Amino acid sequence: MDAFRIKGGTRLTGRIRIDGSKNAALPLMAAALLADGPITLRNVPELSDIKNMIRLLSELGCNIHRDQDDPGTLTIENADVKQTHARYDIVRTMRASVCVLGPMVARRQRASVAMPGGCAFGHRPVDLHLRGLEALAARIQLREGDIVATADRLQGRTIFLGGPFGSSVLGTANVMSAATLAQGKTVIESAACEPEVVDLARLLNAMGARITGAGSPRIEIEGVDQLGPAEHTVLPDRIVAGTYAIAAGITNGDVILDEFPYDSLLAPLDLLDNIGVHVHKLDNQQDPFSCSVQVTSERRLKPCVLSTQPYPGFPTDLQAQMMALVSLADGNSIITEKIFPERFMHVAELSRMGAQLIRQGATVMVQGTSSLIGAPVMASDLRASACLVLAGMVADGDTTITRVYHLDRGYASMEKVLNSMGADITRYQVDEP
Ligand code: EPU
Repeated sequence: MDAFRIKGGTRLTGRIRIDGSKNAALPLMAAALLADGPITLRNVPELSDIKNMIRLLSELGCNIHRDQDDPGTLTIENADVKQTHARYDIVRTMRASVCVLGPMVARRQRASVAMPGGCAFGHRPVDLHLRGLEALAARIQLREGDIVATADRLQGRTIFLGGPFGSSVLGTANVMSAATLAQGKTVIESAACEPEVVDLARLLNAMGARITGAGSPRIEIEGVDQLGPAEHTVLPDRIVAGTYAIAAGITNGDVILDEFPYDSLLAPLDLLDNIGVHVHKLDNQQDPFSCSVQVTSERRLKPCVLSTQPYPGFPTDLQAQMMALVSLADGNSIITEKIFPERFMHVAELSRMGAQLIRQGATVMVQGTSSLIGAPVMASDLRASACLVLAGMVADGDTTITRVYHLDRGYASMEKVLNSMGADITRYQVDEP
């Protein structure tokens, strides 16, 4: 198993480019199941979750070609539409596998997808996905741990897709994708507004779908009989971009980030600015969703009050990284998790490094301290691992992080990227029982 050894006390300087978004690419790849003809995706990041999705789509009868000269370009084509089973072995390594459910039942009239289990940050139900597909006249059963969805032709309907924690990103992706081939009009109310949903609607429309309103809470879809081939470039990863901006801030660095999705990060950028980490566009004429920015940081950081929220609020996927940052602020911060109330696996590990954290339910009070101390810690989920890497770069002494396979799911060669800006991180093999 891979582990990281991080020598603390380095300052990041330099320039890197932000990769394409994992959370956009996964449902985009699944959308290829809807098409008659090839779907070409550019700017697909090289991550283990993407490899898992390639494996899953291959098992579902798709032919997948990776461009030899440009590994970020994938072409996916439906070949054998009789394969409809997404096995538990794959689903349990990647919950996002559930996003094949809607496209498959819409195009192949049947989908059998292992029910995803819990994950590191608690119970993550899929009831909204199922409720939405049932509203479109899919018949849903649970058989031996698999969700089995069948349909003749899906029927357009008006659906309220809100849950106890607001909208669902992949739930919206599943229902919106399925509704493209339904008979008649579908309205999704309380749809997720995340940029990844907008990117998916863009690809689906390029395939011939008729979707309006993506990016707002009300999406309207006029069903069509068939979807065809299309080409699409995946949008830059806002969470990777935010993580590297925080990395520059925590190390008191000065870095330039290219293809930075500035306007998808307005909530975290506003908060970072108040804390003392400043992200400036290098040229105001650029595309605000993919531009070059400079990140600089004040030596003394101010504390903050932060609540995670659905887009355009502060993203839950940056909560852990922000906790590492404000653990070094002058004063007390309050962080409340409103999307996944159990998403605090990093709290115990950060505390091992000297962070002063008091958790009560879905809120953590962070008492700023002047330094963190290197320690052996364990990665537990993707963003919690990123938080530990950031803490390790600024801690006194060495930090070792085991189970970095969690990181490889969402950050391509993170140690190489950070080392190119002056970090000192070594990847090595460790035997774990
Ligand atoms: N929820 C329900 N019922 C459902 C679905 C969701 O109650 O059927 C609840 C969840 O338990 C949660 C809230 O709704 O409280 C939002 O969950 P959502 O469905 O939006 O999460 P997701 O679509 O499964 C995606 C990202 C996550 C990200 C969340 C929230 C992908 C592949 N995953 O998950 O990303 O945290 O949206 O923004 O897009 C990550 O990249 O590290 C990651 C976990």
